[in-house]
Amino acid sequence: MEGVDGGEEGVADAEGDEGLGDLVGDEARLANTGEKDGARGGEEENDVTFPKMPPFDFSPPPYNGPTVDEIMAKRKAYLSPSLFHLYKKPLNVVDGKRQYLFDDEGRRYLDGFGGIATVGCGHCHPDVVEAIVNQTKRLQHSTVLYLNSAIADFAEALASKLPSDLNVVLFTNSGTEANELALMMAKLYTGSHDIISLRNGYHGNAAGTMGATGQSVWKYNVVQSGTHHALNPDPYRGVFGSDGEKYAKDVQDLIEYGTSGNVAAFVSETIQGVGGIVELAPGYLPPVYSSIKKAGGLCIADEVQAGFARTGSHFWSFEAQGVTPDIVTMAKGIGNGIPLGAVVTTPEIAKVLTRRNYFNTFGGNPVCTAAGLAVLRVIEKENLQENAHVVGSYLKDRLTALKNKYEIIGDVRGRGFMLGVELVTDRQQKTPAKAETAHVLDQMKELGVLIGRGGIYSNVFRITPPLCFTKEDADFLVDAMDYSVSKT
Ligand SMILES: Cc1ncc(COP(=O)(O)O)c(C=O)c1O
Repeated sequence: MEGVDGGEEGVADAEGDEGLGDLVGDEARLANTGEKDGARGGEEENDVTFPKMPPFDFSPPPYNGPTVDEIMAKRKAYLSPSLFHLYKKPLNVVDGKRQYLFDDEGRRYLDGFGGIATVGCGHCHPDVVEAIVNQTKRLQHSTVLYLNSAIADFAEALASKLPSDLNVVLFTNSGTEANELALMMAKLYTGSHDIISLRNGYHGNAAGTMGATGQSVWKYNVVQSGTHHALNPDPYRGVFGSDGEKYAKDVQDLIEYGTSGNVAAFVSETIQGVGGIVELAPGYLPPVYSSIKKAGGLCIADEVQAGFARTGSHFWSFEAQGVTPDIVTMAKGIGNGIPLGAVVTTPEIAKVLTRRNYFNTFGGNPVCTAAGLAVLRVIEKENLQENAHVVGSYLKDRLTALKNKYEIIGDVRGRGFMLGVELVTDRQQKTPAKAETAHVLDQMKELGVLIGRGGIYSNVFRITPPLCFTKEDADFLVDAMDYSVSKT
């Protein structure tokens, strides 16, 4: 299986790099425990700094639960055969604190993936935990048939983070559900049915969103009609390089040649996450939004992965392209890991749902919305957007320096804490270095650093840490990548 979300690779993939050997091995395990025994950290060898985990004042409680083998056996017996895990030797994560995770042996890992760009405030942030616990103790569930202040307070706070016309919030339980709802509302509002999305985009795994997704590895062989996939404005692999306006012309062509001339919506991420951290070429969205509006359609910004300050320069990633969407969808970082999604739109568009009854049992649940409000407050209180910008830029600079050192690194891209590193065996041909990517990922884990993997060829590292990541963490991550790539 290729191109999997979160870089979660299928078992076949995990086995695919056999033969490369365990190139880090014992040294890596030393690095990971180096804090305890003071071994080797920070030494330089052949221009490569041996990675040293920054100190962190927290010890998780002892773990007395089932072993990796016992969990794997139950997974095999009782869970879907479609489940896959990231590493050759699966990791049993039992505790989390800020930007760190701990396995069943109490070993600490720097989390450079954040539960797939979800844990923005840091693992088990006390303010978010407190909000969840307090609300759970008082009232866990009621449905919107009764009044409750948690949902109303969060809706108000969330709307204040968006352009002023976008002030109606509809809560869902996931990103897929948010995008499904947004697509349906666009169809109802416009009376049209054609959707335009991007090749290499990812929007979810239900009927409409799987159709809008533009990567075969995420599309089952079921009917997914009504979507046209435009050329991806991918500065690294795309046919027009970084010329956003040239790619935009393809959307106009699709409207003219592939539809009645009217469309329901255009939906896109501004930085594609699952697709391997591809930031749309500059200047792309303004002409596309203009073409879509002329064709009577709505513009949907999928902020499921890149929203909530992750990109550092902006709170929402669409802002970097200077556009205003008609609908914004969100999930992941909205609740720091609690199941929550949202669609935010204008009152006029939201009104289409009054034509019938729309109901969602858990949508806007008091516990989830209390968590969401706490998340917004933490982002503000701890200046996490600024941190994503400053530390993310530093991290990108260091990764770019690594690209200049190793031929195998073909591209470094993204912004803030949404960064991608693409490995290729041939820079000219851009041949995906899939086995090497899997191998380095595994070796970095042995050194104590967790990052993700994605892209349709599974050859892109995805770096999307909690937004409290420090400069020292960035150094450790890059040193671990440097060390692992140097041995490959
Ligand atoms: C951009 C984007 N949209 C939508 C989704 C779907 O979200 P969920 O997995 O919560 O259904 C994802 C998930 O990775 C995503 O990255």
